[in-house]
Amino acid sequence: MISHEPLPWNDSYLTGIERIDDQHRVLVNTLNEANARLAVGVTREALEQITRSLLSYALYHFETEESLMQQYGYAKLDTADAEKHRGEHRSFSQQVVALREGLHNGNLVTREELLSFLNNWLVNHILHTDKRLGQFLLSHGYSRPG
Ligand SMILES: [Fe+2]
Repeated sequence: MISHEPLPWNDSYLTGIERIDDQHRVLVNTLNEANARLAVGVTREALEQITRSLLSYALYHFETEESLMQQYGYAKLDTADAEKHRGEHRSFSQQVVALREGLHNGNLVTREELLSFLNNWLVNHILHTDKRLGQFLLSHGYSRPG
């Protein structure tokens, strides 16, 4: 079970697409750094900084995946999966934005709440959604950029 404990990298997270896997490693590291920082103390400032940089990197990462989807015709060839995948990205971004609005209004979250949400979301999304995208790309002629 994934919790708010540090999240060790696990090769079962590999999608086979190097660009995506490298970004997932960055995300795992980012969550672990956030976890360590919040273990020292949870302040509004720390939560704001953590969620700001996380959101910004997550959006960049989703953009990478979604342009690969576009490039390889995922939405045409597997419409339901592509829509579900993009929907998960949107939902994650909206949840982080809502959390940041809460911070703005003085509603802090605990380290446990934040990290169990982030860790669980990331692992479930990688294992059930990104790996399907990886398989699709590999079986549709994915080639590494030069
Ligand atoms: Fe994804």
